[in-house]
Amino acid sequence: MKVLLTGGGGFIGAWIARRLAARGMALRILDVGIRRETLEQVCGPALVDRFEWVIADVADTGAVRAAARGCDALIHLAGMLTPGCRADPVLGAKVNVIGLLNVFLAARSEGIGRVLYMSSAGVFGPDGGQAPSPITHYGAFKLAGEHCAAAFWADDGLPSIGFRPYVVYGLGREDGLSAGPSLACRAAARGQPYTIPFTGEFDIIHVDDVAAAFESALEAPATGAHRIDLVGASARAEDIIEAIRKVVPDAVIAAEGPPMPIRLPVHLQGPAALLPDWSARPLALGIAQTIEAYRPADGAA
Ligand SMILES: NC(=O)c1ccc[n+]([C@@H]2O[C@H](COP(=O)([O-])OP(=O)(O)OC[C@H]3O[C@@H](n4cnc5c(N)ncnc54)[C@H](O)[C@@H]3O)[C@@H](O)[C@H]2O)c1
Repeated sequence: MKVLLTGGGGFIGAWIARRLAARGMALRILDVGIRRETLEQVCGPALVDRFEWVIADVADTGAVRAAARGCDALIHLAGMLTPGCRADPVLGAKVNVIGLLNVFLAARSEGIGRVLYMSSAGVFGPDGGQAPSPITHYGAFKLAGEHCAAAFWADDGLPSIGFRPYVVYGLGREDGLSAGPSLACRAAARGQPYTIPFTGEFDIIHVDDVAAAFESALEAPATGAHRIDLVGASARAEDIIEAIRKVVPDAVIAAEGPPMPIRLPVHLQGPAALLPDWSARPLALGIAQTIEAYRPADGAA
């Protein structure tokens, strides 16, 4: 099976690529840039050289269609994160909305039977209401993407699954509003101080559990336009610090700043119906694995 992975040069993409390659799948990765160091840390240098690279903008309709040709499956991750969308909303819309439309159009025209894509818990706002009401451009673009996915199902019968994780952490997470827990693990592993720049309650999930969800979804029934709330563990910044100190007792980690601008609603659409065998690892285990992966003498995941 050949999989087109957009945004595969980034953090979550590296972990998905590692899982799919381990299953013997061929990977074509479309991205504007490659974080080679992250990819090599997560996948190993030999594997990275086996991937087929397409350096292209996901907002380029023709380039995405050309990249999809000959692929059997499509995973769409390419996107700008919250700070980038805030700094340049027009560019954010081009990448996150037009890019998603291009991916669905490419799947439709190249006969790829389904799109798996990254939405986000950012579709929810701070009110905790059942209906998504984002207050960030990023969340608004992700919500628009989910509605476009529904339109492709209604108009063209093109099925999709969009995943909505909240804070994704693990080796290689360096950017975005919620990189703090990963950067705290890295600082603890290196004996450096660090302050997580947000507080409040949030959901947090290890990146390899996100990758496992995409891997399972490749085999899920292809029908409908699904949105899955990919929940890991509910936590506060203090819980992250406590989990870090269980591994590095003298770690100098603090947390200050505003709460995250997202509160999950009470009723979530979890993955159980579509991915019955999927589960997320406990927070303490994921934090310990992340610190271990960041230890200076042992950079491998
Ligand atoms: N990290 C999280 O906590 C989190 C949570 C929810 C959803 N997501 C979503 O997951 C996806 C991957 O996020 P990540 O954390 O790996 O971020 P990342 O920034 O590491 O990866 C995103 C990738 O998209 C690429 N990209 C950006 N603009 C592009 C363009 N115009 N054309 C082609 N490629 C482009 C980047 O080069 C990068 O490699 C994104 O869609 C993000 O919104 C992330």
